[in-house]
Formats: sequence, structure tokens, C-alpha cells
Amino acid sequence: MDRRTFIASVGGAAALASMDANQKADALEFAMGKELEEKQGNMSSADADVKPNGYIAPARVFRTYGKDEMDIPKKQPGEFFHMGHDNRLPRMSDKPSLLEFFDKRIGHSSHLLQSARLAKINGLPEKTVFACLLHDISVSGFISGDHGYYGSQLVAPYVDEEVSWAIKYHQSLRFIPDEEVGYPYPEAYIRYFGEDFKPEPYIFKDAEYARNHKWYMTARQICINDVYSFDPNVTVSMDDYVDIIGRNFHEPEEGLGYDNSPSSHMWRTMIFPNNFL
Ligand SMILES: [Fe+2]
Ligand SMILES: [Fe+2]
Repeated sequence: MDRRTFIASVGGAAALASMDANQKADALEFAMGKELEEKQGNMSSADADVKPNGYIAPARVFRTYGKDEMDIPKKQPGEFFHMGHDNRLPRMSDKPSLLEFFDKRIGHSSHLLQSARLAKINGLPEKTVFACLLHDISVSGFISGDHGYYGSQLVAPYVDEEVSWAIKYHQSLRFIPDEEVGYPYPEAYIRYFGEDFKPEPYIFKDAEYARNHKWYMTARQICINDVYSFDPNVTVSMDDYVDIIGRNFHEPEEGLGYDNSPSSHMWRTMIFPNNFL
């Protein structure tokens, strides 16, 4: 992605300048994922993905670039706010599974599939391949800011603790090079954000904690397989990962969103993005 396209994607140079370092990195990840989908012909130029099954998936639930967002239109007499299923989105079943979310709500899945594929090619354990498959689930379907933290919470009730831990800490570790294991500082961050780009202190603090943790390499492997997973010439099918999901994601009987887990409300927000009350 060229720098100009990236700046345009966030609403211009002023909008970029108003973001903190972490928001910039999240915006870049989002823009690169979107560009990948466009190159592969998977999405319209609008803010939505047209999935291969014809569904249109929303880009993500929240944008916080702020200033350019439309005001909520004033309600006129006789008009009502829409609640419940949004007809602009594919209707979700009463017991949605992770795959149904991938189909109908999670955009930009090519990047996730590519990084899982790379992890597999690199001979990593299935748990790590699975963590790669979910690592940006928040950017793609829920909230892009602090995506590692939100993504981790979203899946935590349904996956091995090591998987949700690794998803959380890939966000901070991506800023910290570890040449010994083949992870230099991402060259893209220098190109996009300049030499003096520096993440917030909490990122360094959390990365240092992760660096000394027994699961460090699982999170680090997400970063390693992440940076090479924006290849427009590689197409990966979700069908190849159905078994891995089956073995590693504990689907709740009631369906995601309806099982009263600590993250049910987050899945429900994706089902009903407009239900503010
Ligand atoms: Fe990420
Ligand atoms: Fe990623």
C-alpha cells in the first residue's frame, strides 16, 4: 500500500496526525487488510466486504476517527429508531457459530487465513495456527482500537488460555523487534509513520511483561506470521480451517451471543450493531 492511499484511508493527513501511535498502527493494519481484500476482488470500494457467498459484511462496528462521522439524524414525528435485526446486514441465525460470524460479520478474513496458512507451513503447533487465524478478529469484526486486547476478550471464554493470551500480547509485541527469532521492527511502520514513531508507554510495559512469559513465543509467532500475510496472490479457503476451529473453539450450545459468557455482549453487538438500548 502506498503512503498516499493509507493517509486517504484515515481521512487525510490531519486525521492521521491526531491519532496516537497505537491508533495509527491499528489503522494501518485495517487499511492493509482492506486493500488485500480489494486486490483479491472480495469487496466493494465501500466500507463493506462482499463475501463470496454474496453477503455484505460490515467493515467493523466502531470507528473513532471522530470528526468526519455523521451525526445521528434527528427523529421526525412518526419515525422510529430501528432496533433488532438490521436489514442491511445478513440475518444471523438464533444460534450463531464462529463460522457464521466469519461468513456474515467478519470482514478482511483473507489476512487471517493467510497468517494461519503461513503458521502451518512454518510447522507451528495447531494451537498457534489457530491463534493466527483469530489474531485480528477484533479489527475485522468488532473494534479496531486496541484490537489485541478486545480480540482476546472476545474469544477467551471459548479457547485455550494460551490462545487468548497470545492474541492479547501480539498487539504490543509487534512494536518490539526480536531479531534472534526472526522478527525485525516492521519496516512498514517506518515507511508509514516515520522514524520517530513511538507507541504509548503501556505498549512497552505490556510487551516487556509478555517477553518474560512462558507463552511469549506463541504471541511472537503471531507477529512473525502476521507481517507476511498481505499477499494478493495467495487465496486461502476457510474450508481448510473448519477442522482446526472444531478442535480448538468450544462453540456454546446456545450460540455465540446468547450463552451469558463474559463476552456474549460483544458478539451480540456484532449481531445487532444498532441496538443501543
Ligand atoms: Fe494485529
Ligand atoms: Fe494481523
